[in-house]
Order: sequence, then C-alpha cells, then structure tokens
Amino acid sequence: MTAWDPDRPVDFAEAEEFLRACHAELPKLGPVEPRLAVVREQIAALGTYTHTHAELVHGARMAWRNASRCIGRVYWRSLTVLDRRQHRAPDQIFDDLVSHLHTATGEGHNRGKLRAVISIFGQAVPGRPVTRLWNDQLIRYAGYRGDDGMTGDPQYEQFTSAVSRLGWTGKGSAFDLLPLVLQTGDGDPRLYELPESAVLEVPLAHPEYSWFAELGLRWHAVPAIANMRLSIGGVDYPLAPFSGWYMGTEIGARNLADAHRYDQIPVVAERLGLDTSSESTLWRDRALVELNRAVLWSFERAGVRVTDHHSESRLFLTHVERERRAGRDTPADWTWIVPPISGGLTPVFHRYYTEADQRPNFYLDRSAQQLSLTAIPQVSVPAQRTSPELRTPAEPAAAVCPVTGQTGARPVAEPEPLPADQDFGPDIDLHPAYAADPEATVRIPVRPKAAPGAADPDATVAIPAGPTPITAEPVPARKRGLRRLLG
Ligand code: ARG
Repeated sequence: MTAWDPDRPVDFAEAEEFLRACHAELPKLGPVEPRLAVVREQIAALGTYTHTHAELVHGARMAWRNASRCIGRVYWRSLTVLDRRQHRAPDQIFDDLVSHLHTATGEGHNRGKLRAVISIFGQAVPGRPVTRLWNDQLIRYAGYRGDDGMTGDPQYEQFTSAVSRLGWTGKGSAFDLLPLVLQTGDGDPRLYELPESAVLEVPLAHPEYSWFAELGLRWHAVPAIANMRLSIGGVDYPLAPFSGWYMGTEIGARNLADAHRYDQIPVVAERLGLDTSSESTLWRDRALVELNRAVLWSFERAGVRVTDHHSESRLFLTHVERERRAGRDTPADWTWIVPPISGGLTPVFHRYYTEADQRPNFYLDRSAQQLSLTAIPQVSVPAQRTSPELRTPAEPAAAVCPVTGQTGARPVAEPEPLPADQDFGPDIDLHPAYAADPEATVRIPVRPKAAPGAADPDATVAIPAGPTPITAEPVPARKRGLRRLLG
C-alpha cells in the first residue's frame, strides 16, 4: 500500500461499496440507487463527496467493527459519534477535543462511567490544507532525560523536548500532561494545555500491599487515540480521535511494565522482596501480576470503568460469534488480540482469525506516527512529484492495546453469553437470506459486505441528521465547484 495522498480523488467504487453496505445494514435509509447517482455526480465534478450524518455515524461504527487489532469490538454499535466536520479553526478544535474528553469521561455522578466516543473533524478535500494534531493520544505523559536517568514516559522524550523548544515547560514530574499541538496546513503549530477538569486520573494502590501507593504511580482513565485516519467509503478524515476505556493489561503489563516505558517490574519485585537472582524464580511474572492487580483494583475502587483480559477475551469471542450470525467475518490480528499476560489462559489464544483489510477502517499513516513520536513535522512534498520510492507504506488497519505474541492455534473455545448489565448496543436481526438458510453466510462476499439487518444509527447521537457542509476556506479557482456544492 502506498502512502495516503490527501489530493487523490475519491474512488467511486469504494464509495459505492460502502454505501451499498450501509444501506443494506440500515434499511431505514431507503434505496441506495438515488444516493449512488448523487455521489457519482459529486465525485465526477469535485473529486469527493460528503457523507450524510447517518452515513458518518454508521461508517465510524463499521470502522471500529473492522479494526482487527481491537479486542473490545463487541461494543461497536454503542459508539457515540460527535460530528465536528464544520469546525476548522484550531481554537474551536481544541474546545471540541476538551468536550470529547468530558463526554467520554462522564460528568457529575457519571464521572468515571466511560463511554466510547469519536469526534470527526473535516474530511480531506483535494487542494485544501489538512489540520493535524501532532499527539498520538489526547492524554499522555511527558518524558525527561536527566543526569540521573529518566523521569516520566520515555516514549515521549523526543516529543517532550520538541514541545519544550516550542515554548512549553513541564513541571518535571513523572506524570506531567503533555500539551496538545495543532497545526493547519504549513502554518505554525499551536500548543494547548488541557484543563485539569478534562483529565480524570487514577492513583494506584494495591488491595494488600500498603507500600504500593508510595510508588506514586497513576494513570489516566481515558485512552484516546488521536493520530489515526478514519477512512469511510473512500473519504478520509485525518483528524478523528476516538476513545474507549482501558483493559488493565494495557497499563499494568505495558505502559508501566515495559522496560522502555515506566519499567516498574524491578521496582515492584524489590518491594515484594522477591528473589531476583535467577529468572527461574519467575520474579518478573509475580511482580507483573501484582502490578496488574493494583491497576484493576485502583480503577474499580475509584469507580472508573476498566476491564480485565479474561472477561474481555470471552466477550470478544461472543462478538465474533454474533458477527458470524449476522453474516459477517471478524478480521482479527492474533498478535494484538491475545493479551500480554496469561495469553494461554484466555480463550482468544486458542484459535486463528482471518486478517482481511476491510473498510471502513482506521489507518496509522507513517507520517502521523513519526510526528507523534518526534513532534518534528516532515517537509511536505506535493503529491504529484512524489516518486514511488519516497512513498512510505501506511500501517495496516489498527486500533488498540499493543500486544506481542507468537502464533498458536487449538480448538475454538465456547463464547460466553453477554452479561445482562452492560450496553452492547441493539442486537442485529438476521438478514432474511441468512435466516432462511443458515448456510447463506458462505455465499456472502466480504466486499461489498452483505447486509444483515438493522441498527439504530442515531441511538447515541446528539446532532441532527442531514449532510453537514464543509465550511468554505480559500480554495484554488479550479475547485470553485467544490465550494458551491460543499458550502
Ligand atoms: N494501549 C494504549 C495505551 O495504553 C491505548 C490503546 C487504546 N486502548 C483502548 N482500550 N481503547 O494507552
């Protein structure tokens, strides 16, 4: 796959594939043919088209459903979509990001009852500048290298020095919130400090070891990925941050445990008084389990939504089964789905998955990834002059919780019934063809996907339906038609 080119016109075939799938899954949208005719015309004239609000909402949910690295996809129908397409000024975008965090975190007595939210800003339009957020997540901690070693998150050392050169000063603690950096086109980057009220954090303690609290560890409640491009029906949304809630291992077995992150395993092992003289005492594993217990216990005690890898693994298989019954395949990347601790104790370990790149989806572009690690923008090269060897491949579709692992496969474990007290969104009715003939699934092609039924696209949406115009900005004369049609 070549690098994403924001100036490339939308491919009608991809638009058609999405619209057919969307209309088939949401019968209340009516027949697709008239919509296809409009979209074909828009693409021919302008190189792109706009999604209706319902298409945007369902497209974002489909993108989550297709995110092959995400174990939490059983909740895909409950994604709250904040349609921010008309907001282009950096100050406005920052305000929207802050309200994203409030919505995702919950307010008042709901604070801590996290919900899955995506904010979708303006689509890429050929010839128009793109607004980028440099950060990989809305909430992250700075990392500083001093004479006596690292303070904070080493992953963000370069990012921290770069924003410091832009004028930011951190307190120098192990958990300083990084500022957000927004940049429109080739304009100057602007730094924004998140207000404390928008960032819920959980100080970590242990259910049995009182000394654990003295380590001074904490983590933020909301993981909010901000550097992936959302691609729906050939239209790209370069700024579409999405957030959910943590699986404890992401914090306890990666962020705080990895040797290249907070590296807390030796610290915890020492406080536990473990025998570290030989690997075979399994002191690392024992410390890791206690660290993970502390994470889950502390989040639960603070009333902040979190999940454990055993429950989430079973729910993932329930999701795979539910999707199968709806006539859909669930592409999954084993190396990301299997948790970073106790892999073989979870049912997701004991099987293989298909690995198709199904769209809509989220993509991590190499340039966005680089930017969020270094905070050093690349010099932009006009697309038509980019020689093939300069193009960097986009990462495959991805979403959550980095996990490494080996392949392994054994008999498929039985999925569990869904717990009654959680919101997974409405169940989807079987496609009539499938209900009549359960074998019909084998004849349903993956792309375009057939059409298993209805969900309410507006269930969690606060903004009225209808196409949202793209706000006018200076556009080259050759794009005047675009302004006329899109606003
Ligand atoms: N693993 C990432 C982190 O530790 C977050 C990825 C998204 N995770 C999620 N549960 N939605 O911050």
